[in-house]
Amino acid sequence: MPSISESGTFKLGHRLVRRLGYGAMQLAGPGVFGPPKDHAAALAVLREAVASGVNHIDTSDFYGPHVTNRIIREALHPYPEDLVIVTKVSARRGADGSWIPAFSRAELTQAVHDNRRNLGLDVLEVVNLRSMFNAHHPAEGSIEAPLTILADLKRQGLVRHIGLSNVTPTQVEEGRRICDIVCIQNHYNVAHRDDDALIDDLAREGIAYVPYFPLGGFSPLQSDTLNSVAARRNATPMAVALAWLLQRAPNILLIPGTSSVAHLRENLGSVALTLSENDLRELNGIGAS
Ligand SMILES: NC(=O)c1ccc[n+]([C@@H]2O[C@H](COP(=O)([O-])OP(=O)(O)OC[C@H]3O[C@@H](n4cnc5c(N)ncnc54)[C@H](OP(=O)(O)O)[C@@H]3O)[C@@H](O)[C@H]2O)c1
Repeated sequence: MPSISESGTFKLGHRLVRRLGYGAMQLAGPGVFGPPKDHAAALAVLREAVASGVNHIDTSDFYGPHVTNRIIREALHPYPEDLVIVTKVSARRGADGSWIPAFSRAELTQAVHDNRRNLGLDVLEVVNLRSMFNAHHPAEGSIEAPLTILADLKRQGLVRHIGLSNVTPTQVEEGRRICDIVCIQNHYNVAHRDDDALIDDLAREGIAYVPYFPLGGFSPLQSDTLNSVAARRNATPMAVALAWLLQRAPNILLIPGTSSVAHLRENLGSVALTLSENDLRELNGIGAS
């Protein structure tokens, strides 16, 4: 299998990470709530990711809640020196699994401490503030108050770098006036391309763009075009979707999520695939339709 170092690297804060990373949300139970079906399998996925060269893992303490971070700690602590774990704050979970916005100073401070404790880290390398004006897609509204609180926590030395998630270009601008922003994590994939212009702007500024749902999320991508390009290239549709993202812009860092070692290997295998101009033209048609 080709090494994932062939995916190249991009700057995340002051660290260089490989462009193929791993998103840990799928390691919690159904609905991202409670323990996983197979605890040993969850540990195996994380260990295989790191053994394969992944040095960027995305998580949050509200996955589970607390479950995913504790599994990461159990699988990987003490962490390899080059591993960057990115977490996010903004919500807490109700007893029924609901997602409750949590932006007060007390809630954000608690979230940072919960992430530190459950991950076993003194300092969180990157924390994304996830906007919740609309839980499902970016919506306008000022992020000044919670971002100022997170910037205070950074000044206290609990957080090294700050990113934003589920945000509009206006919120990115607002955020950058408040503090240094090292990454933007929004919903984006070959079929969902609202952020095309934002990605290009961030690339020019040297800011990482980390698409969530790179494979379509809870309903993985299904497309005849993906299938036909995959068949022609002797690859899987998911590998094609990831290869398309790697070729889309140099500042894109991938965090595909999976609870299965077989899928992890398939996803990391996307590094071997270089799509032709013809492939890209066809695939670009998916987002346009
Ligand atoms: N900032 C935010 O608001 C936000 C929101 C959502 C997610 N995230 C982050 O983004 C990461 C990625 O998103 P995601 O995990 O939700 O979605 P995703 O990476 O787009 O897709 C994950 C889904 O695809 C399946 N899958 C993965 N690899 C596959 C393969 N090779 N073949 C077939 N199916 C495959 C997974 O099932 P299996 O487990 O069966 O493989 C899972 O159902 C998350 O893990 C999380 O860290 C952030």
